[in-house]
Amino acid sequence: MTFETVATRPINGQKPGTSGLRKKTRIFMGEHYLENFIQAIFNAIGGADGKTFVVGGDGRYFNAVAIQTILKMAAANGAAEVIVGQNGHLSTPAASHLIRLNKTDGGIILSASHNPGGVDEDFGIKFNIANGGPAPEAVTAAMLDASETINSYRIAHQPDVDLGSIGSAKMGQMKITIVDPVSDYRALMETLFDFQAIRAMFAAGFTMRFDAMHAVTGPYAKAILEETLGAPQGTVVNSVPLEDFGGVHPDPNPIWAKTLMDLMMSGDAPDFGAASDGDGDRNMIVGRGQYVTPSDSLAVLLANAHLAPGYKDGVAGVARSMPTSAACDRVAERLGVECFETPTGWKFFGNLMDAGRVTICGEESAGTGSNHVREKDGLWAVLLWLNILAVRKISVAEILADHWAEYGRNYYSRHDYEAVPAVGANQLINHVIGQLADLPGKSFHGLTVTRADEFSYSDPIDGSQSSHQGLRIWFEGGGRVVLRLSGTGTEGATLRVYLEQYRVPGEDLRTDPAVVLYPLKQAIIQLTSMHHFIGRTDPDVVT
Ligand code: G1P
Ligand code: ZN
Repeated sequence: MTFETVATRPINGQKPGTSGLRKKTRIFMGEHYLENFIQAIFNAIGGADGKTFVVGGDGRYFNAVAIQTILKMAAANGAAEVIVGQNGHLSTPAASHLIRLNKTDGGIILSASHNPGGVDEDFGIKFNIANGGPAPEAVTAAMLDASETINSYRIAHQPDVDLGSIGSAKMGQMKITIVDPVSDYRALMETLFDFQAIRAMFAAGFTMRFDAMHAVTGPYAKAILEETLGAPQGTVVNSVPLEDFGGVHPDPNPIWAKTLMDLMMSGDAPDFGAASDGDGDRNMIVGRGQYVTPSDSLAVLLANAHLAPGYKDGVAGVARSMPTSAACDRVAERLGVECFETPTGWKFFGNLMDAGRVTICGEESAGTGSNHVREKDGLWAVLLWLNILAVRKISVAEILADHWAEYGRNYYSRHDYEAVPAVGANQLINHVIGQLADLPGKSFHGLTVTRADEFSYSDPIDGSQSSHQGLRIWFEGGGRVVLRLSGTGTEGATLRVYLEQYRVPGEDLRTDPAVVLYPLKQAIIQLTSMHHFIGRTDPDVVT
């Protein structure tokens, strides 16, 4: 086999964001772009020689081409083995599981998550470390450094490998193992949940719709929900992964999963609705006539996890990203377990899970998961909900009402201002940072600020520091607003405004969240001089 060392030059901007390197697909398709970044990953981890990796992606446009390049580069860099999903497909949680199960040195996941796919849309690459989780900041910083000093990459001259059938192949000395993307993951789920109880619930007529959004979870959901748990055929819709996700955003929220939402709010609604995103790590949960916010879902799952066999002995602790609502904090307090507040992004949960300090983690952005892998896991959240429903035998709406009656309700909503000019967005953030110290005592739209700061995180396990992780502003009466700029966008800047208002049990807990959160929204528009900096006050997406 011939290897070539190709001369190259650093390409600007190969800086991994909240979740890997995410760019327009055409940028990834540019000369040397993908190759430089893959070589930078290998260089950053001390080379690939003798190492084993898992490789797979969400099947979006360019997945199939990129995976062949990665295999050829892994072979030329001396990797011993690559485990790859059939057809190059692996959901992010399944990839995390395979890394752990096979004790590989890490994995490369090809995905831009919930961003749209296609030649004019988005593509992404993430590197996960040996614990199965996203590379922590020290590793992503090393990847950026390596990308800035690269002068060559290594690649094998070999024909493409047929990834269509399960089995093994060789590329030079490197072994390629092509695995069924679903089977090991399904086996893991079976150890965590009471499949018998869920099967009995479906057999008794429980109805569900799972929208796989034409993304990678389709085959997983079909295999687990329909083939294993006996949900009727057709329960899983949009189950065939498409390179362009059918032209929609594979983002499981009320905006992008509107068809499912409309069904669930209609007279024909099934008992339970759920959806997952491009790479299968996000989830949406909705009952008949009742949407469950991700922050509430995290709190409900935490409070009820002991009903599932995998968590019957209770949880060690919980962690949530800072912008996520404090609903789970109240449950943790009741359970007497630790609750951690981390920066946005799953990578901050890894150390806590490895150290046995937390079992369940979640983010307001539809990410929930546990220490069974080191990624958030969409289908896991759906199965835990099903397990809870099978045991409690009441509706989603009743579970939520019970929960609020016990803990109070954290009304919550996220407002996204997309593709705003980066300069204006940064000025807005700096303008608020400049006022932070003086905010307490000041009133905006009739709401008085009690406290304000910029969030920094000191990792309790390895002591690493992460600063500039978003601005927090608390108001009298239990309100909180968080401001931060997205780290996953590919166009201009995205300003995220997170609104939260707590109401204690006994207060009216059924009011429309938009009504409850309206004063906070107006206060923050005024406080940030939003119109001045970004030219508008109406968000593009409200979730
Ligand atoms: C977004 C979410 C964040 C999530 C990330 C990857 O990042 O807000 O919670 O971890 O996608 O799925 P952001 O664009 O806000 O940086
Ligand atoms: Zn995702």
